[in-house]
Amino acid sequence: MKLDVKSVFISDRVGPGCEALFKEHGVEVTTKYGLPKDELINELKKHDAVVVRSETKITADIIEAVPNLKMVGRAGTGTDNIDLTAATNNGVVVLNTPGGNSISACELTCGMIYALSRNIVPAGQSMKEGRWDRKLYSGFELYGKTLGVVGFGRIGREVAQRMLACGMKVVAYDPFLTRDEAKRLGVEFGHIDDIWRLSDMITFHTPLMPETKNLLNKDTLARCKRGVYVINVARGGIVDEQALLDSLEAGHCGGAALDVFSEEPIKSAHLLELVKHPRVVATPHLGASTAEAQERVAVEIAEQMLVLGGHTNRYPL
Ligand code: NAD
Ligand code: MLT
Repeated sequence: MKLDVKSVFISDRVGPGCEALFKEHGVEVTTKYGLPKDELINELKKHDAVVVRSETKITADIIEAVPNLKMVGRAGTGTDNIDLTAATNNGVVVLNTPGGNSISACELTCGMIYALSRNIVPAGQSMKEGRWDRKLYSGFELYGKTLGVVGFGRIGREVAQRMLACGMKVVAYDPFLTRDEAKRLGVEFGHIDDIWRLSDMITFHTPLMPETKNLLNKDTLARCKRGVYVINVARGGIVDEQALLDSLEAGHCGGAALDVFSEEPIKSAHLLELVKHPRVVATPHLGASTAEAQERVAVEIAEQMLVLGGHTNRYPL
């Protein structure tokens, strides 16, 4: 492994604590956002390491064009914007900050669940348009309803804990969840078919990978209860967006709340149609966008890179 890090390039907006901590340890920092690929490569050739959020894609051709690159620090959870195979093959260490933004992603998910159940977004919009429509926006109580949680890791568990507290029943599916653990956490242990069969609302908290791509699709949506609500604050592509739109239009899916999309920023006609659908609440990948999470992940990534770079052993890895 190539670890000596004297200069770092920051290519996405991360909390100011990141740059401050590097500088405190004598590491040179350059910050430039939104560079085209050729300019990014030129900058990376002058630096030992790069810090990214999700906008910068560290692809195989970038890694191969920059043999001096030693580390990629991802100020966030998902590493799907970094080609991990190319990084491994080229001896580039990839670090991330799992957990640093879990509470924020969880709280947005809970907000989405409440927003869907009480029509908060369309009702608010109707008032801005001068309407007073109490009948149209009547909702439903979460109390007693079943929430299916697909992916019972850090964020899935935080969501379950909060939704149990408001009286929902929670059924969880995760290949690594045991019956004993489910019982200890007060949730029902389910297989994926139980999620489709039992849930009034389904929330996804898995990484995007071949096993989870289009996990919710035309067939699995058809197995869900009529009126099911879908929440995705994990990754675009876990839910097949065209199938979701078709299901909303057919009246089978009752509504959806989406923070993440297979294309970001969205441009395709079917995605624009999806976010404009009256029963869809959409946000532009805001799961981790809180002051607290951004500062936490910014500092955590700098700490890890400084420890691996041999600048300090002050911070726990
Ligand atoms: P985590 O690793 O703690 O949990 C993911 C869970 O998914 C694991 O327990 C894993 O066993 C499970 N899993 C894997 N394959 C599965 C499958 N086929 N079916 C069901 N479960 C499966 O990750 P986390 O911190 O909870 O984050 C989850 C995802 O949320 C991340 O991968 C990231 O993409 C996304 N995320 C999004 C935002 C945002 O801004 N919207 C913020 C943070 C994280
Ligand atoms: C993550 O994986 O951490 C999220 O997508 C949030 C982010 O990139 O800011």
